[in-house]
Amino acid sequence: MYSNLEQIQSGSFSTVYKAWCSTLNKYVALKVIPRQKYTEAGIMNEFRIMKLLGTKHPNICSMIDYYEDENNYILVLEYCECGDMYDFLSIVKRQGSVGHPALIQLDFIKIIQQLYSALNYAHSLGIAHRDIKPENILLTKEGNIKLADWGHATLNKVSKDFNIGTDNYRAPETFGCLNGYDTAKCDTWGVGVTLFYLMFGQCPFRNAELPGLLPNSNGSAGIAAPTVGVAKCRNFQQYLMDPYGFIYRYFLEPIVCVHQGNEYTSNEGKPSLYVWQDMVNIYQIFYVCRIIIDNLAAIDPDDRSMAKSLTLFEKVWNYNDQYNSNGNLSTDESNVTDNNNSDNANNSNSAAFMKDSFNNTSMERKQIISKSS
Ligand SMILES: Nc1ncnc2c1ncn2[C@@H]1O[C@H](COP(=O)(O)OP(=O)(O)OP(=O)(O)O)[C@@H](O)[C@H]1O
Ligand SMILES: [Mg+2]
Repeated sequence: MYSNLEQIQSGSFSTVYKAWCSTLNKYVALKVIPRQKYTEAGIMNEFRIMKLLGTKHPNICSMIDYYEDENNYILVLEYCECGDMYDFLSIVKRQGSVGHPALIQLDFIKIIQQLYSALNYAHSLGIAHRDIKPENILLTKEGNIKLADWGHATLNKVSKDFNIGTDNYRAPETFGCLNGYDTAKCDTWGVGVTLFYLMFGQCPFRNAELPGLLPNSNGSAGIAAPTVGVAKCRNFQQYLMDPYGFIYRYFLEPIVCVHQGNEYTSNEGKPSLYVWQDMVNIYQIFYVCRIIIDNLAAIDPDDRSMAKSLTLFEKVWNYNDQYNSNGNLSTDESNVTDNNNSDNANNSNSAAFMKDSFNNTSMERKQIISKSS
């Protein structure tokens, strides 16, 4: 019933094939998991979660069927023609160069909205994914996304499993906390880091692990205390101390520099090799970073909110649409100025404006960090 098998990927746990399904008259993906690589409980968890998710949500890669034989567990999945986001961006990166980024002919805001919709649906069923990353976001030929790989998902609202997910994308509290972490909030962090990757082609830090545990203000799930000079990863330490300053230096300064025709010499960050077709304004990029820092990749899980970030992203896009000009990356700040930032509207030097904004707001952020510790 399945023919023309072509291997798509072979990972640590599974091999995924594209296959023709004669009964459905369409291609499907077969995720073949050797028994010796996965526990019975593990596969039953993935199977149960996929069944609960069902086939209705357009942005969740659904399970069509399930088989077992002596050697393997086999999940039959909807096939996504364009593979995963990580591979897609790797190809795009190779087509871009410093100063001449490749254009991605997809809308970044649509990716955010669809990712939000998929996760919101899963969370409404009590399911947290716990491994949000570009490799698990699949792309269809229509340019829509489908969230895949529910192998680390859980129905527990709070978890003490500190050995799960992918390091670059894991929230600080998932490395260790007093009373367990909120699993949905760890997805929100993963979305934040994933959006950084989608925008710039790099993760901001190798891991967000912190030693030391402090209880949250409500005395429930504890989070790690942000202490000076202790994070294992240097970049994450810098993010802890000054998230706006770090993100500015790491991701934005290279873009501003290249955009202004200057050679970028620092080796701290790397200029992005691609731009999304709907991110034509440099202030838009700046605000997206700020929304991620404040509402998605916020150290305190209580500060994270996907719903709030989506509202803010859409607001930025609405402003941009109103003023949008010629499709070039613009440094005209009025394109995305919102009411809260109108006092910055006359600032003519874009680089200085961005730097100052980041520096000013980092003071508020430092206060929040010290308050929560
Ligand atoms: N339905 C699908 N359509 C197209 N490609 C797919 C599909 N499912 C998976 N893939 C490809 O196979 C890769 C691995 O799939 P998946 O993440 O489900 O397996 P995994 O063994 O859990 O992987 P890992 O352990 O590396 O996270 C994906 O990153 C994607 O490139
Ligand atoms: Mg995967």
